Amino acid sequence: MSYPDHAAFGDLSRLTPLLEALDRFNRFEGPDPAGRRQAAWKEHLGGTLPDQGAGLDAVLDDLSRWIVPNGLRNGHPGFSGWVTTSPTTSGTAAALASTVAGSQRVWVHAFNYLEALSLEWLAQLLGFPASWHGTYTTGGSSANLIALGAARQWAVEQQGIDPSMTGLPPDLKWRIYASSEVHHVVNRAAAILGIGRRNVIGIPVNAAGELDPEAAAARIRADRAEGYLPMAIVATAGTVNTGAIDPIRALRELATTEKAWLHVDGAYGMFGILDPAVRDAYDGVAEADSVALDPHKWMAAPVGNGVAFVRDRGLLGRAFTLEPAAYLEGSMGTAPEVESPFDAFGEIFHEFNLDQSAPSRGVQVWAILREIGREGMTDRVLRHNGFARYLSELVGRSPHLEQLAPVRLSICCFRFIHPDIPAERVNDLNRDIVARLRAEGDLVPSTTMLRGRFAIRPCYINPRVRQSDVELLARRTEEIGLEFVSRFRDSPAG
Ligand SMILES: Cc1ncc(COP(=O)(O)O)c(C=O)c1O
Repeated sequence: MSYPDHAAFGDLSRLTPLLEALDRFNRFEGPDPAGRRQAAWKEHLGGTLPDQGAGLDAVLDDLSRWIVPNGLRNGHPGFSGWVTTSPTTSGTAAALASTVAGSQRVWVHAFNYLEALSLEWLAQLLGFPASWHGTYTTGGSSANLIALGAARQWAVEQQGIDPSMTGLPPDLKWRIYASSEVHHVVNRAAAILGIGRRNVIGIPVNAAGELDPEAAAARIRADRAEGYLPMAIVATAGTVNTGAIDPIRALRELATTEKAWLHVDGAYGMFGILDPAVRDAYDGVAEADSVALDPHKWMAAPVGNGVAFVRDRGLLGRAFTLEPAAYLEGSMGTAPEVESPFDAFGEIFHEFNLDQSAPSRGVQVWAILREIGREGMTDRVLRHNGFARYLSELVGRSPHLEQLAPVRLSICCFRFIHPDIPAERVNDLNRDIVARLRAEGDLVPSTTMLRGRFAIRPCYINPRVRQSDVELLARRTEEIGLEFVSRFRDSPAG
């Protein structure tokens, strides 16, 4: 079939060389060229807007030879940075399939059906009540925003006002309570929702990095005396710095007493509930009002895949409804059985979310769970939590390594120390060690600051990490550190 357009269509079998280039990329061989060879690939890819197109072959050639080889290696087995990784094959295949054949999540088609089914599977996997409703989002940022949008709707409705219709009442002041370790996307959500970043109160944490519920209760009482109403309490289940899990059960009780919404940010750590060694820490999550989680983190779904779950979808609907438009609802039939997929919306998601047009993301989660099942996902979480504990052991065995926070999930924060290195130089020394590790290319951990101390912070969610990568991180950190120590002895001022 031919089409009246300059763009090629219907020839995806020509992608074979590109798929081979992607497989080559995923072998992560040789030094990572993306940073070092920027001048070369930017020169090849740059230039001004072409008047005439170069055609599909030129595009596929650029993709295979210039773009993919200079892509981001966050799936490399030695990569343990931030909370990110690259997708495995089934999720990738599902993303490609939905790009081509499921390019809107609405209307009546297989991808639309899997959007809902995969959310049910996630709820079953994580032990959420079957009555909860989920909605896919672009990631943890928007999942937290949507969940807190529901919280806002609920809290203001308690005052007899519908904030989605009239906005926030000017005479009422609100606060959201979270741990001082809360992810900054929660502060941004509060900014967007009109609550204000400064009204997200960071409650102090204990030595394990967990929110202190008594401190939260005291602060809420003090704030009430000043006229602030508690809108929501956010429990983080897996903080981004150390993987700490806030006491969800105690915060549930506090939220009930204070008539506040309980939201759990499980963007990183929600899948940790699969590990029996830490499952108790999640006690109370099934009684939360909302939960955010990210299949694009520990599940290694293609990036752009988050989920917000809420207990009461009616609230989400009132907060996020797209009011009927003649060109949409006005064009729909009402019969459940449809002749054309375009006669009905199928499983509706655009009423509960930020996006009208959105890709089908559920198929990615469905594909991953169909491929590896509950068993495969549990095995991954156990392995990764085990890696963090193993690293903690290796750190404990070394006189030159020091652990900086307890291991709860799959993060282990540590640093290099040595008696010859003055305290004020230790942070910079560890910064230099990480820069060297990254330059060598086999290991890419990320870092954080813990009470003024610079920590090397591997976070294991990458399905390709092996035990040998964990061992190598401990070994190379020590070796590079000792090399810097001998240089420091030779020239202490330098
Ligand atoms: C606890 C937590 N919440 C929220 C986020 C933000 O998620 P995303 O990067 O998917 O927007 C992250 C990201 O690491 C996180 O760890």
